[in-house]
Amino acid sequence: MSVLFEPVRIGNFEVRNRFVRSATYFALSDIDGFIGQASVDLIRTLAENDVGLIMTGYAYILKSGQSFPDMNGIQDDDHISGYQKMTKAVHDAGGRVVMQIAHCGIASETAARTGGDYMAVSVVDGSPDAPDYGVKPREMNDEDIEKIIEAFGQAARRVQEAGFDGVQIHGAHGYLVSQFLSPRSNQREDKWGGSLENRMRFVIEVAGSIKKQVDQDFPVMIKLGVRDYVKEGPRLTIEEGAEVARAVEKEGVCFIEISNGFQDNTNRKALLSVTKPEKEAVFLPSARDIRASTTVPLSLVGGMRSLPVMEDIIKSGAADCISICRPLIREPGLIKRWREGDTRPADCMKRMGGNLWPAAS
Ligand SMILES: Cc1cc2nc3c(=O)[nH]c(=O)nc-3n(C[C@H](O)[C@H](O)[C@H](O)COP(=O)(O)O)c2cc1C
Repeated sequence: MSVLFEPVRIGNFEVRNRFVRSATYFALSDIDGFIGQASVDLIRTLAENDVGLIMTGYAYILKSGQSFPDMNGIQDDDHISGYQKMTKAVHDAGGRVVMQIAHCGIASETAARTGGDYMAVSVVDGSPDAPDYGVKPREMNDEDIEKIIEAFGQAARRVQEAGFDGVQIHGAHGYLVSQFLSPRSNQREDKWGGSLENRMRFVIEVAGSIKKQVDQDFPVMIKLGVRDYVKEGPRLTIEEGAEVARAVEKEGVCFIEISNGFQDNTNRKALLSVTKPEKEAVFLPSARDIRASTTVPLSLVGGMRSLPVMEDIIKSGAADCISICRPLIREPGLIKRWREGDTRPADCMKRMGGNLWPAAS
């Protein structure tokens, strides 16, 4: 049997195989973030098709952190009962499900466009990473930051009450945690900016706030942008990312999913043009660096499409799990197909303009 179908222990639970469905925004919620039956069915289908661990789409913890209008929300207790239907459906199908929670900071488009409290870590004029929603954000003050940290804790408490197997902090892709970590977006001169110790204070306090609100053994995870994939200007380096990974592990985070922070067009293109095995696993070198500085189980995300590539990653020890997103949008039954012996690569390739290569043995 392939190593990919061997169980793995994460925090206080076992996962039936090494496949993680990386967090994927559903675009199915109402304007206040409430999910409905379609979201439950989407996640149930993945569990019924053998996905080991499912990360939900990102959910905002405060209205000020909402990007898309149809993004999931977990900003108050009224959301708990809706998610209880989702966790039951997954558990009935033998799966595991973790909610990803987020604040989008300067990328909070809905907050910006609907007259909400639109905030940034720093207001950086002319920043290539700052979106233009027609309004300027205001810089967060200490009180705002403390409120957001507390809201992460309260959201995690709701996640546990809803029956999820764990909670994942969205710490990647240029959202608020990334915005604090990266010197591209964080130009503060107070205790939240400047040195790495200051830039990572926010994520450490978020992890601490969550740990205070959930049971001691409730799994707290992070999807971490371990470096900015940009060629120019200030950036979060992999050495810094490795220090952040070490620090969150010390804070009690039990599972790290390795991804990018900010990215430029070259990196975006690398993720979009995965047309052959050599182009898969875009962040593999970063995974090796994080492995060298941490002890918790790791998952790698970013462009993996074929079983031999994934097996090699696990066997090499670079990661314990393989996270995939787009292949499961196109083919929700992919993991079951692979388990049942049809080992052709993810169909996702075809849409990328690539050719399918011969099946793995
Ligand atoms: C439609 C779509 C929605 C996504 N939503 C999220 C999300 O909610 N949270 C997150 O961390 N990443 C999100 N991502 C990024 C993916 O989880 C993943 O990191 C990225 O697509 C690379 O993996 P892949 O090559 O397997 O698709 C999303 C990606 C896509 C294509």
